[in-house]
Amino acid sequence: MERNTGQLKDALGRVIENLRISITDRCNFRCVYCMPAEGLQWLPKADLLTFEEIESLASSFVRLGVKKIRLTGGEPLVRADLPKLVERLARIDGLEDLSLTTNGLGLAKIAPALSEAGLDRVNISLDSLVRAVFEKIARRDALDEVLCGIESAACYFEGPLKINTVLVRGINDGEILSFSELARREGVEVRFIEFMPLDAQKDWKADQLITGKEIHDTISQKYPLKKDPHQDPHAPSQDWVFADGQGGKIGFIDPVSAPFCESCNRVRITSDGKLRTCLFSVGETNLKSILRDPSNEGDPNQKLEEVIRKAVWNKEPGHLISQKGFIHASRSMSQIGG
Ligand code: 5AD
Ligand code: SF4
Repeated sequence: MERNTGQLKDALGRVIENLRISITDRCNFRCVYCMPAEGLQWLPKADLLTFEEIESLASSFVRLGVKKIRLTGGEPLVRADLPKLVERLARIDGLEDLSLTTNGLGLAKIAPALSEAGLDRVNISLDSLVRAVFEKIARRDALDEVLCGIESAACYFEGPLKINTVLVRGINDGEILSFSELARREGVEVRFIEFMPLDAQKDWKADQLITGKEIHDTISQKYPLKKDPHQDPHAPSQDWVFADGQGGKIGFIDPVSAPFCESCNRVRITSDGKLRTCLFSVGETNLKSILRDPSNEGDPNQKLEEVIRKAVWNKEPGHLISQKGFIHASRSMSQIGG
C-alpha cells in the first residue's frame, strides 16, 4: 500500500518534511496568551524523552523523509545541557536544517555553545518593545535581556533572524509600526502570529485577535509592502518586503483568518513523546511507550516507523477554529510546542 513506502505522506497527499520536537513543557515566562500566572502542572522529569530517545525519534523521522527539525518548548533553553542534544541531532545524516524557537531569555549566554554544537537558526518570540507592556504580557520584566539575546543570535547564526510576535487587542496592538521599524532597521523578519485558541486558561475570544489583514493595512499606510519574491511555499507565513527597498521583512501567520492547513507539511512531538499531527489534534500517538517497551523484539525502529506512518497518514485535514464544532486544543501551546 502506498502508505508503507517512500515519503512520509498523509491521505490528502501532503508530504511531511518538517518536525517540531518539544523538549520541555516548562517555561520561565507566563505569557498571558499561553498560560496562567501561576504556571501549569509540569510533567515529572521521568516522563520527558531523554536525549537518546529524542535522537532515536529524530533519526527515524529523518529516515522517513523529514528534512527540517525545530526544537521548541515550553522554553527549550531551560532544558539542561541543550548543546549536547543539539550536537547529537546536528550529526543525523540527511537532516538539512536544525533550528530552535525561544523566548530569548538566557540566549545571549548560550548562543555561542548552540552555534558551535551545530544549530543552524533560532526564531525569537518578542511581543513588545515597551518594557511595561512586555512585562504585562510575559509576566516577567525581561525585555532588555531578550533584546541582548536577539543581538547575540544575529552574531552567531546565519540568515535573516525571525522574530515572532503575537498581538492581543488592547495590550500590544499599538506597536505594529514600531515592530515594522525594527524589521527595517535591523534587517530581521518580524512575523505576526494570530492569537490562537491555545491558551491553557481557555480564555481565547475571537475579538482579542488582530488579523493579519488589519496589521498589513496599518503597516502599508506608512510603509508600502510588496510580496516577497523569495516566498517559501511551505512556510506558514505569507512574507512581504518593503516596497522602498529597505531591508527586513514582514510575515503574517494567519491560522485563524486564513488557514493554511492545505499546505501544512509539519507534525509535532510533545516533550513526553506523543506524536501530534496537528496543533489542534484531539488525539495523540504515544511513541515513547514504543521506545520504552521492553517486550519490543527485533528492530525497534521498524515498529516505530510503522506507527509513525500510520498516524501521519491520518493527519487531520485542518482545524475548525471559528467554526461550529471546534474543540479547544487539549493541551496549551507550551505543552505542545509552538
Ligand atoms: N496563539 C498564537 N501564538 C502563540 N504562541 C504561544 N501561544 C500562542 C497562542 N495562543 C506563540 C509564541 C511563540 C510561538 C512558539 O507560539 O509566542 O512565538
Ligand atoms: Fe513560555 Fe512561550 Fe508560553 Fe510564553 S508562549 S509562556 S514564552 S511557552
